[in-house]
Amino acid sequence: MNKEHIKLSATAAKLWFGTKQVLKNVTVAFPENKITALIGPSGCGKSTLLRCFNRMHDLSPDARIEGKFLLEEQNLYKGNLTATAVRRRIGMVFQQANPFPKSIYEKINYGLKINDIPKHERPAIIENALKESYIWDEVKDDLQKPATKLSGGQQQRLCIARTVALRPEVILMDEPCSALDPISTSKVEELILKLKKDYTIVIVTHNMQQAQRIADKTVFMYLGEIIEAGDTHQLFNKPQQEMTGNYVKGHFG
Ligand SMILES: Nc1ncnc2c1ncn2[C@@H]1O[C@H](COP(=O)(O)OP(=O)(O)OP(=O)(O)O)[C@@H](O)[C@H]1O
Ligand SMILES: [Mg+2]
Repeated sequence: MNKEHIKLSATAAKLWFGTKQVLKNVTVAFPENKITALIGPSGCGKSTLLRCFNRMHDLSPDARIEGKFLLEEQNLYKGNLTATAVRRRIGMVFQQANPFPKSIYEKINYGLKINDIPKHERPAIIENALKESYIWDEVKDDLQKPATKLSGGQQQRLCIARTVALRPEVILMDEPCSALDPISTSKVEELILKLKKDYTIVIVTHNMQQAQRIADKTVFMYLGEIIEAGDTHQLFNKPQQEMTGNYVKGHFG
């Protein structure tokens, strides 16, 4: 059996918003070139945990973080490391595409600009990212069209294109399919499965079928703690914890 290489991890992570503790003592590891699903009832801290890896709480004055967040050996909260540098290596795809009326082209170009990618290199990178995200054929005739005019599924693949354009090592996805119909969902899932060859992927989902379709590993969270983590098939079919079994069978959450 191959030993898994851990790409991303948190050790004894704790997070408070003001006096409210949202992450309690989270230790979790995400293996390289695998898809890990993060599941658990609403409010248990899935998005909060994901956002820690992307330095998204930096600007929340009431958020206090303890513990260690590592990308391989790199401490993501080390003094002089900027959030931009972290996000270059760890990309994030959100639930809803943001509503700014930028063009398809500019959506991707923007990230390249703020990361100082030379101007002459950008058109090829953008084309490539769109191809890699299985959306090129649907948009190539008019890259200047406002991205808001795309369908939900197309916008989601565009968000993924924007992320892969920067060649991160890890892609974090927070409910990327929650607003999509089954056909768009299956397109995005097919894309995610293809991307795992090149990226380490963590995906938050409320869709138990989706987790079982695409995730190698599954992590179950409840009230700010990891209850159980393991191979997806095992976690769904032979959970070690009673609470995991109840959740995946839909008894609560
Ligand atoms: N910026 C914030 N300030 C204060 N409390 C917050 C903030 N963001 C999240 N919370 C609280 O932290 C807890 C965890 O929220 P989080 O968004 O991580 O949950 P989640 O597991 O992603 O839920 P869902 O499945 O509904 O998206 C919730 O109780 C939420 O109200
Ligand atoms: Mg969430």
